[in-house]
Amino acid sequence: MPRFLILGAGGQLGSELVEILPADETVALTREQLDITDFGKVQDTLTKLRPKVVFNCAGFVRVDDAEEKVDEAWRVNAFAVLFLAKICSALDAALVHISTDYVFDGKKNAPYTELDVPNPLSVYGVTKLMGEFFVRAYCPRHFIVRTAGLYGRRGSKAKGGSFVDRILQKAKAGETLRVVTDQVTNPTYARDLAKHLVKLVETEKFGLYHIANRGYCSWHEFASTIVQLAGLDSPVEPVRSNQIPLKAKRPAFSALISVRLLSAGLPPLRHWREALTEFLQGL
Ligand SMILES: NC(=O)c1ccc[n+]([C@@H]2O[C@H](COP(=O)([O-])OP(=O)(O)OC[C@H]3O[C@@H](n4cnc5c(N)ncnc54)[C@H](OP(=O)(O)O)[C@@H]3O)[C@@H](O)[C@H]2O)c1
Repeated sequence: MPRFLILGAGGQLGSELVEILPADETVALTREQLDITDFGKVQDTLTKLRPKVVFNCAGFVRVDDAEEKVDEAWRVNAFAVLFLAKICSALDAALVHISTDYVFDGKKNAPYTELDVPNPLSVYGVTKLMGEFFVRAYCPRHFIVRTAGLYGRRGSKAKGGSFVDRILQKAKAGETLRVVTDQVTNPTYARDLAKHLVKLVETEKFGLYHIANRGYCSWHEFASTIVQLAGLDSPVEPVRSNQIPLKAKRPAFSALISVRLLSAGLPPLRHWREALTEFLQGL
């Protein structure tokens, strides 16, 4: 029986967990191996494996597509999570469920803590918040972890790579980079988050946590820093969100901060610039 089960193991975060969890105690399943909306298969798989901890890194993450593929976003981000929460509870497994800064409306203009009240602006944000509610309602041994601005060595397939990959590709191809100045996030290295998740699980201090690299910046500053640290000289044109109309509304300021991590005995993650520097050096 494995100790750990990773769902959505082929994604940015899932693949980092695969790297750091002990291979002999872990089963990692990609979407091809287990679609979390296939409830029968989820039930069979979990009942057979009986893991102690389930990391749900699967998600419908295409924020704009979710406005149209509402059914699919609900199935993956909410109903599948309800089902997973029930099974984990029945098996007495801890469920680590990943959520998002997009549960907030961004009007606070200061980093959001775990005590702030969510008010999502998009189908994606609503479905992720519903997923959180289902986990809380059905699986007492849970960690709900909200994160933001994730990038990792394996970029999100659904988004055509991570934000870092896309900026580097465009800069190297000499394409014009136009990036918004009026949306603020915490760029977060998936490896840093994965390491903290593993430590958090050991504490058994269940509940809601915000985990993102420390500090925050606009997506424009994030892109400019990527270009600069990669030694490229492509200009990054600052634009406002209304100059790049997208289907889904996004919060203007959705950076996260934690008031709960310390009480679980964990320090905040390092600053986003330090993490990004290390990430780019490793490419
Ligand atoms: N990326 C961000 O900036 C960000 C910010 C805040 C929170 N989050 C949250 O963090 C979590 C991980 O995101 P990520 O950045 O690692 O995204 P990702 O790289 O796109 O990974 C998500 C994974 O979920 C898989 N998946 C999608 N639908 C599935 C299904 N029905 N059954 C099983 N697997 C399924 C995807 O497979 P395919 O690639 O084959 O579709 C992919 O491997 C998500 O819950 C997301 O909402 C992300």
